[in-house]
Amino acid sequence: MIPAGDIHVAPSLLSADFGNLAAAIELIAGVTPWLHLDVMDGHFVPNLTIGPPVIASLRKHSKLFFDCHLMMTNPEKYLEAFKAAGADLCSVHVEIGQTEELIEAMRQLDLGVGLVLNPDTPFSVAEPFLDRIDLLLVMSVFPGFGGQSFIEDVLPKVAEARSAIDAANLDVVLEIDGGIDLETVVSASASGARVFVAGNAVFSHADPGRSVLELREAALLAR
Ligand code: DX5
Ligand code: ZN
Repeated sequence: MIPAGDIHVAPSLLSADFGNLAAAIELIAGVTPWLHLDVMDGHFVPNLTIGPPVIASLRKHSKLFFDCHLMMTNPEKYLEAFKAAGADLCSVHVEIGQTEELIEAMRQLDLGVGLVLNPDTPFSVAEPFLDRIDLLLVMSVFPGFGGQSFIEDVLPKVAEARSAIDAANLDVVLEIDGGIDLETVVSASASGARVFVAGNAVFSHADPGRSVLELREAALLAR
């Protein structure tokens, strides 16, 4: 696991060319240790993306930290497959319930454990599990699609999570996902997020590697 206090940009391949994912990874591999992989099941969210076979193929091209965001109704059926594919960490949404069992299943598999909060889900739903997870992901858009606008209303929740993590001196990465760009990364960092998922801002940029460096610099300054 990457140290919880480190500031990193996690490029999301959702906005990359799906016909050329290995090449997309190469564009950012030199500037960040972290890669965000968006898995959508067409049920929890109204979109479909990739699953374990694609992740296994990407693993052959990359040693980056694979942070798999599971936008799925039944992740328990596939956790073993994600582990076998080379996932380092999986994050499951608290909205689907069975959080206790899912955390235990991920631990058994020696997967990093992440929980995700949708924009309208309060921090209190994740709080009881804070001492048992490696990462808390606060969504700053409703999941399903890249390129949406940042929802500022989630910032107090980010600050609340930051305070709780610090107060208990926990090693939990606080990640934010959705609508991150050079402006929104500033308020997200100031509120206490430490890992910034960015899809559109990175892969729609003429120079994705440069975009990662600029976003990280802005986050560091605002911290
Ligand atoms: C949204 C995904 C995000 C998305 C972020 O459902 O979870 O990871 O790719 O993309 P941008 O940065 O374009 O909002
Ligand atoms: Zn995501």
